Amino acid sequence: MNTTFDFDSIIDRRNTNCAKWDTQTKKYGRNELIHLGVADMDFKSPQPILDELQKVVEHGIFGYTDLNEAFYESIQHWLKKKAGVDVPKEWIVFCPRINISSSICVDSLTDSKANVIINSPAYSPLMDAILKNNRKAIANPLVLKDGRFSMDMNYLESVVNEDTEMFILVNPDNPSGRAWSKEELGELSDFCLKHNLILFSDEIHADILVEGVAHTSTLSLPGAIQDRLVYASSLTKTFNIPGLIVSYMVIPNEKLREKVKNTIDRIGMHNPNIFSVVAVEAGYNRCDEWLAALNAYINDNEKFFRAFVEENMPEFHIMPREGTYLLWIDYKDLGVSEDELKKWFIHDAKVEVYMGSNFGEHGIGYIRVNLATSRELLKQALLRMKEAYVRIGK
Ligand SMILES: Cc1ncc(COP(=O)(O)O)c(C=O)c1O
Repeated sequence: MNTTFDFDSIIDRRNTNCAKWDTQTKKYGRNELIHLGVADMDFKSPQPILDELQKVVEHGIFGYTDLNEAFYESIQHWLKKKAGVDVPKEWIVFCPRINISSSICVDSLTDSKANVIINSPAYSPLMDAILKNNRKAIANPLVLKDGRFSMDMNYLESVVNEDTEMFILVNPDNPSGRAWSKEELGELSDFCLKHNLILFSDEIHADILVEGVAHTSTLSLPGAIQDRLVYASSLTKTFNIPGLIVSYMVIPNEKLREKVKNTIDRIGMHNPNIFSVVAVEAGYNRCDEWLAALNAYINDNEKFFRAFVEENMPEFHIMPREGTYLLWIDYKDLGVSEDELKKWFIHDAKVEVYMGSNFGEHGIGYIRVNLATSRELLKQALLRMKEAYVRIGK
């Protein structure tokens, strides 16, 4: 048990309009499921954030809100500390959600007939950003190399064409948990430059890392790629505040930045949520110890989960995790279809996880499990799965 921060308590999230525990319960019509699906955490946010939110509630007036200097300075300070880069204030563009940023960028930075490349399996709202803006998506199937996913640069060369205008990257990757290396990002950067692509890099998971793994931010890549980069991030995964709805982009190139800002202006997305502004300041300046403890807890959850699965459910093969609090698990050795496995999870094991097809056709044969819950709940889920294991496919 961590003595300073409490990640062990089981907090009931039902009946709080919770996407993970309420919406999924309604979807399956079952109250008894343990939910390890939606990518948020079952932990309370760090105390400095809670204190700042409390102050806003006590003040009692929730008027229109503007970004303050602390918002920009906190982001600058964080990016200096984490990525080693100096980001001028003007490069930072507020946007309520990355899911909005990605859509806006596809819409305003590519031609209506453009192709956009995205790694596959892919976090589905990023694929939606391409398809719902009527662009053509080119899936880049990740390939297994030494047990981990990697990008096949030869394949990319074979599918890129003159209509291709953007590459959407997730780093660290959801769902695979890959934290792309400096070398891999260097190759990707060369590829984008060679073919004049804009690199949209979603780094929302960058603060959740396995012990000993370093995150390389695209903001730290040398050279001309900075001129074609849209970096998108947030602290909502880091400190478990996605319900506050806040994110930002860093866009070094002025012309690209103006196009994005014009779209933001056109759709009237002017003011931030009053709670989000104080949360950014508190999170980025006063929660380092909490974050270190969180990462340690998630690492221990992973060790516990892996050991249990290896011993009791050997046909689930867990891919190496480098970042995110998600595990990507290959179940093809079980010889069952996704429908069969889903039925088993919901009706027999009574555990809800994300099925791989949520991440596109290359996700089939895999499930995604969210580790960011109390150890006890994780144990209960594993015990349910173990008890039901012999009935998979029956
Ligand atoms: C890779 C990735 N990008 C974006 C998001 C969503 O970010 P936002 O809440 O800012 O739209 C998620 C949430 O799971 C994610 O995993």
